[in-house]
Amino acid sequence: MALFEVEGWDIKTKKIAFGATRDAKIEKRQEKNQKRREKQKETDEKYQKIRDLKQKEDKTQQQKRKIEEVEAEKEEQPEETLQPIQESSPLVQPTKLTPLQQKMMAKLSGSRFRWINEQLYTITSDSALKLIKEQPSLFDEYHQGFRSQVQAWPENPVNVFVDQIKSRSNRPVNAPGGLPGLYPNKEVVIADMGCGEAQLSLDVSDFLKGGNKNSKNFKGKPSRKPKITVHSFDLKKVNNRITVADIKNVPLPDESCTIVIFCLALMGTNFLDFIEEAHRILAPRGELWVAEIKSRFTENEKKTKEEVGDEFVNAIKMSGFFHKNTDNSNKMFTRFEFFKPQQDIIEERNQKLHRRKKFIEHETETEEFKKKRESRPEGQWLLKPCIYKRR
Ligand SMILES: C[S@@+](CC[C@H](N)C(=O)[O-])C[C@H]1O[C@@H](n2cnc3c(N)ncnc32)[C@H](O)[C@@H]1O
Repeated sequence: MALFEVEGWDIKTKKIAFGATRDAKIEKRQEKNQKRREKQKETDEKYQKIRDLKQKEDKTQQQKRKIEEVEAEKEEQPEETLQPIQESSPLVQPTKLTPLQQKMMAKLSGSRFRWINEQLYTITSDSALKLIKEQPSLFDEYHQGFRSQVQAWPENPVNVFVDQIKSRSNRPVNAPGGLPGLYPNKEVVIADMGCGEAQLSLDVSDFLKGGNKNSKNFKGKPSRKPKITVHSFDLKKVNNRITVADIKNVPLPDESCTIVIFCLALMGTNFLDFIEEAHRILAPRGELWVAEIKSRFTENEKKTKEEVGDEFVNAIKMSGFFHKNTDNSNKMFTRFEFFKPQQDIIEERNQKLHRRKKFIEHETETEEFKKKRESRPEGQWLLKPCIYKRR
């Protein structure tokens, strides 16, 4: 009998001991395996999540790239959809046509003129420059139609401006009533922005060349004509007087002009950029002359005849000009005169505003005006496009 053997208690200790150890080991192993599997599962899940995230990121990147590509494509295209125009035959000699054909031709040219005209009033100046560069014949067609419109008017605003230059040339440059000139040489430098066929430049040069040597000025003394230089800018160079430029950015140095003229030329939807350009090139005391078709003023319906153009005048004042005069006497168009104030006048005005505690009010108004312009181009709310009627 073994040392610890008790009779009746026949426990196979070895077996028990052996079995218990093995089962425990198996259990432990199973537990371990289970844990490993769980850990593996966890790790797998983690990696899956990372993969999912990465895939998502890749997709977003792809989408981003696609959007960028589409945007880039869009930028390459003109801002507005411009229908290509077939080269038509407005330049066909009308005399070789039958009267009926001539009538039809005139109708066709008229509607093409109106179409081009509408484009120029409803697109930005960048797009206008591009349009005429790509299809230069549109410019000729436009001016053929425009000329026939002007012939039907009682007065051509270009002639009104030329007459003004002539009559003010009777007085000394920079004197009251005289033309504004640069200092110290008194040269009168005119920029004709959106000059069309540069009629103004031609008329001024004829005026400077012509005339009677014995003619007298307003004091009865022999008259001496001022030195006048005219720079003419438009979208196509139809003659040597013209320089091609978008009038929001002309090749002239700062403060190099004394008169800037916009004769029916505020056409692009961003036309206040043209006014800012005029401010840049004008010397202090320089004058801004504008003529615009009456029907363009949006407040036409509400205002009396004398008040037409008030909103427009306020907008030009926001660009730093002082208002001199509005002439509403003509049936077709309104003429405006502004000037660029010298620094001392600006300071005096600001002090006045401070004294009246209106400076902040003025600044807020300027800010609000800027925001309005940023949200919608001025061509959509300040001046209506000029639409010519079928005649
Ligand atoms: C209605 S016509 C007037 C032409 C001339 N000032 C006259 O009164 O006979 C307007 C002219 O402005 C030009 N124009 C419009 N937008 C322009 C721009 N962004 N840059 C240069 N010229 C522009 C047109 O090409 C057109 O010749």
